Amino acid sequence: MKYKKLPFYVVASGLLLVLACSTPKQNITAVNSKEISIDRKVDSVLALMTLEEKVGQMNQYNGFWEVTGPVPEEGTAALKYEHLKKGWVGSMLNVKGVKDVRALQKIAVEETRLGIPVIFGFDVIHGYKTISPVPLAEAASWDMEAIERSAQIAAAEAAASGLNWTFAPMVDVSRDARWGRVMEGAGEDPYLNSRIAVARVHGFQGNFGEFNVAACVKHFAGYSFAESGRDYNTVDVSNNTLHNIILPPFKAASDAGALTFMNSFNELEGIPATGNPYLQRTLLKEDWGFKGFVVSDWGSMGEMVSHGYAKDLKESAERAANAGSDMDMESYGYITHLAKLVNEGKVSEDKIDDAVRRILRVKFMLGLFEDPYKYCNEARELETIGKKEFQEGVLDVAKKSIVLLKNDKNLLPLKKQGQKIAVIGALANDKTSPLGSWRIAADDGTAISVLEGLQNYKGNQITYAKGADVAVGKTVFASETRINMTDKSGFGEAVTAAKGADVVIMVLGEHGLQTGEGRSRSELGLPGVQQELLETVYKANPNIVLVLTNGRPLTIPWAAENLPAIVEAWHLGTQSGNAIAQVLYGDYNPSGKLPMSFPRSVGQVPIYYNHKSTGRPGNGQPTESVFWSHYIDQDNSPLYPFGYGLSYSKFEYSNLKTSAASFGKDSKITVSVDVKNSSNVDGKEVVQLYIHDLFASVTRPVKELKNFELTEIKAGETKTVTFTIDSKTIEFYTANNKWEAEPGDFKVFIGGSSDTKMEAPFSYTN
Ligand code: NOJ
Repeated sequence: MKYKKLPFYVVASGLLLVLACSTPKQNITAVNSKEISIDRKVDSVLALMTLEEKVGQMNQYNGFWEVTGPVPEEGTAALKYEHLKKGWVGSMLNVKGVKDVRALQKIAVEETRLGIPVIFGFDVIHGYKTISPVPLAEAASWDMEAIERSAQIAAAEAAASGLNWTFAPMVDVSRDARWGRVMEGAGEDPYLNSRIAVARVHGFQGNFGEFNVAACVKHFAGYSFAESGRDYNTVDVSNNTLHNIILPPFKAASDAGALTFMNSFNELEGIPATGNPYLQRTLLKEDWGFKGFVVSDWGSMGEMVSHGYAKDLKESAERAANAGSDMDMESYGYITHLAKLVNEGKVSEDKIDDAVRRILRVKFMLGLFEDPYKYCNEARELETIGKKEFQEGVLDVAKKSIVLLKNDKNLLPLKKQGQKIAVIGALANDKTSPLGSWRIAADDGTAISVLEGLQNYKGNQITYAKGADVAVGKTVFASETRINMTDKSGFGEAVTAAKGADVVIMVLGEHGLQTGEGRSRSELGLPGVQQELLETVYKANPNIVLVLTNGRPLTIPWAAENLPAIVEAWHLGTQSGNAIAQVLYGDYNPSGKLPMSFPRSVGQVPIYYNHKSTGRPGNGQPTESVFWSHYIDQDNSPLYPFGYGLSYSKFEYSNLKTSAASFGKDSKITVSVDVKNSSNVDGKEVVQLYIHDLFASVTRPVKELKNFELTEIKAGETKTVTFTIDSKTIEFYTANNKWEAEPGDFKVFIGGSSDTKMEAPFSYTN
């Protein structure tokens, strides 16, 4: 028994739980008997709770009190404090550090009638103190082990800091690079998103040990389809897109055992997600059998009034509770109105009980009832955060996340000796931007800059020139990153540095906070005067390696056409500069592949490889005419497609074979291909398998990723890579409104990018 006296007695006799506990000043603690299942324990706690205490469990507050300060006496902080003492706060977010977590937990456990522990949530999106690449970058690694390891590191540091719940992974399939939050997800493909969702859930949750945290799969659902890529904008998607594109990663994460889900700010079919019973009750809880709880997004319950879906906060609370939103993040809707709504008969107590059961269940799963201070160990906190092995872990995934987009004149890898290298760009010397957009616990200036990474290689002579700023100072505020920099006074110095150099490394892109929530962009070029800087330096010395550090696909047609080398290095986290330097010098042979298409221009957006054919795709149609689906001023194809990425090795594909021409319900075929590394450098390749379902009850994408293998191939070696295709592979959400395989003809494609032309036919007979 970790705390206080045994407050109630549970006598299990068959199915009967006898609860002997009703005096007001009692606390709940561990129910020791292992035989009693979590559900029974949950019921035993629920049976003791008043309606107000139940509603309290459904209430989540933002952190309001740092224990080093005085106890709040007025305003909302005082109200929250009072509610915490009454047992009316089930969860808090944005409280961190063992000292503060312990102090607040102590109030919940020792000063409330039932002593139910609080669950502490935080946005641990790509690291806590030691920061990993932004999730979009990690997705470019296509390396599930590295991604799971990265989530483990994040969880370990967060858990050591008192936290038990992260608001990640975000599994929103993203097709629109204008949307700032593409940095937080795994890009445009549902299959890749699903695989990564599972890896992240496993990484965060592990086996619910003291270094694990509960995952929260978000944003359920449709948030990334905001019209015009403008964050929080209206979403209007078809049922077909919802089921075939948006939902699969959520389902995969639920199946992987994610303990919680977060709903979203947007509407779907005219109903805000927070008040949407189809999403939360029918689909998630009934059809998928999800046993955890759903938290609202920040204030999204209250925002149903702005949506025009509820006349006031009370009606919002009614709709959210009836729709299956179990916990209210900072709207004050439940705590203010829900008990009254139950008494008025507008929300049934059964629904409240269901929500509270789910919340208590998660607390039991995390072991908080057995030890509410499980995550509060000062010694562990000190020895865990920033550990050497964590630095190595984030360096490893950072290297793997880099995508080589172009290397025409073999400028890369750089020579290690005797070179004069000019490094240009404010982002080259930035120790904060590489931390990306979601790194609220990390300290400014804690990333290794590109300049520092390059300076660790001593054989060359490096000159640095800033050239131009990207954003105001070391800003953390969106309003400052919005300012378009116009100052060109640093151009002269940059040109001078470039003139005397053998190679120019230009580090350009976005400030870490020009991406992320609320940071949508209407232009996707290099912000400020960076494009002009690039072209000016190019005139002085065209031997440029462009290193992009950014959180979304950018439009870089000029660079793609004119520069010899381009490296997509994203926002790579704490070890950013070391990872980039190792790739530039060839100590790590790049293996990343794009998880999102890079458009030629904003006009092409949303652009994604798994688009539909349309009735006028342009093949077979008279393309000299205008009456086919195209632009009169631009190609349809992206600048760089999904799945694309080069290596210092060269891979050649041949010998695509299927084991049979067709298969049926209970059989399968194998598809194999030979991949030869025809270079003299060992390397890794992501071998990708796509299918095309030629005719179906609803139209199908021209290509769909269905499997991939990241494989190491030695110089000169040929590897045969084999995949299996069965009825599961070809299932989709059909015109019957269910997932099933339809008989018919298909194509399978294999290659190192989604634009592969290597194909073979097969068919499925039921
Ligand atoms: C709003 C964001 O949409 C969500 O992803 C995040 O987890 C919450 N704020 C909490 O910070």
